[in-house]
Amino acid sequence: KSLPSGLEIGKEIVVYDEVESTNSKANELLKQGYPSGTVVIADRQTKGKGRLGRTWISPSGKNLYMSIALKPGIPPKYATLLTLTSVVACTTALRRYTDIPVMIKWPNDMLIDDKKIGGILTEMKIEGEKIKSAVVGIGINVNMTEEDIPEEIKDIASSLKIYKGEDFSREILIVEIIKEFDKWYQLLEKRQRKTIIDRWMQLSGTIGRQVKIVLADRELVATAEAIDEEGRLIVKLNDGTYEKICAGDVTLLRA
Ligand code: BTN
Repeated sequence: KSLPSGLEIGKEIVVYDEVESTNSKANELLKQGYPSGTVVIADRQTKGKGRLGRTWISPSGKNLYMSIALKPGIPPKYATLLTLTSVVACTTALRRYTDIPVMIKWPNDMLIDDKKIGGILTEMKIEGEKIKSAVVGIGINVNMTEEDIPEEIKDIASSLKIYKGEDFSREILIVEIIKEFDKWYQLLEKRQRKTIIDRWMQLSGTIGRQVKIVLADRELVATAEAIDEEGRLIVKLNDGTYEKICAGDVTLLRA
C-alpha cells in the first residue's frame, strides 16, 4: 500500500531491523539534517522507552515501533497538545483499519476493553519560546499473542490480535497512521485546537469516568470532566472542587 504524494509526514521513511530506540534514532536523524516529518521504523528495539522512565517491551516481528521527527511551529505551552494530536491520529487510523473500538486514556494511551495496546512517548527540546525539535514515538501491540505478554502486565496489556483473533498488517497500519498524522498535524499547525480536543474527547474512554491519579506527592480519586486548550485533564473531586492535571498516572476505576 503506498502513500499519497505531497504529505509532510513520511517524506523520508527510514527502516531498520534493530535499533536501541526509534525515538533516539529519529532525534539523531533530525540533527543530521533530515527534514521535519521524517519517519523512523524498526522491527525491534533493544532499549524501547516508555513514559515515566519505563521500558517498552519491543520483540521482533510482531509490533509497531515508529517515531516521527518534527519541528513544530507551536508555542511550548501547547506541547502536550502535540501528544494529544498524535494519539488522535493513531486511534483514528487504528479504528479505520481494524474496526476495533480503540479508546484513548489520558493523556496518550490506546486501550481496548480497558487494556493497553499502544502508547506514545513524545520527547522535545524547548529553546526559549520555541519547540526546537520533537520526536513522537508510537508503540502499538499489533500481533503479540497472550504468550508474548509478560506475566506481570497480562492484566493490563493486550494487542490487536488478542482482541480480534487475527493478524494485522504492520505496513497498512503504518500507511494509515502516516496519512492521519499528516492531517491532524496540519490542523495543529493551523491552530485548530478545538477540533483536535473535540475529537480527543470523542475517542476518550477517560471523560466521565472515575479515575485514580497518582501525582508526585499525592493520590486523588475524582471524576474526569474534560481536557482544556493546553491538554490538561480537568477532574472534579468528591467535594465538588476542580483540579487541572498536567502530568501523572491515571487509572480508570470500575463504574
Ligand atoms: C508509553 O509508555 O505508553 C509510551 C510507549 C512508547 C513506545 C514507543 S515504541 C517506538 C518509540 N521508541 C521508543 O523507544 N519508544 C516509543
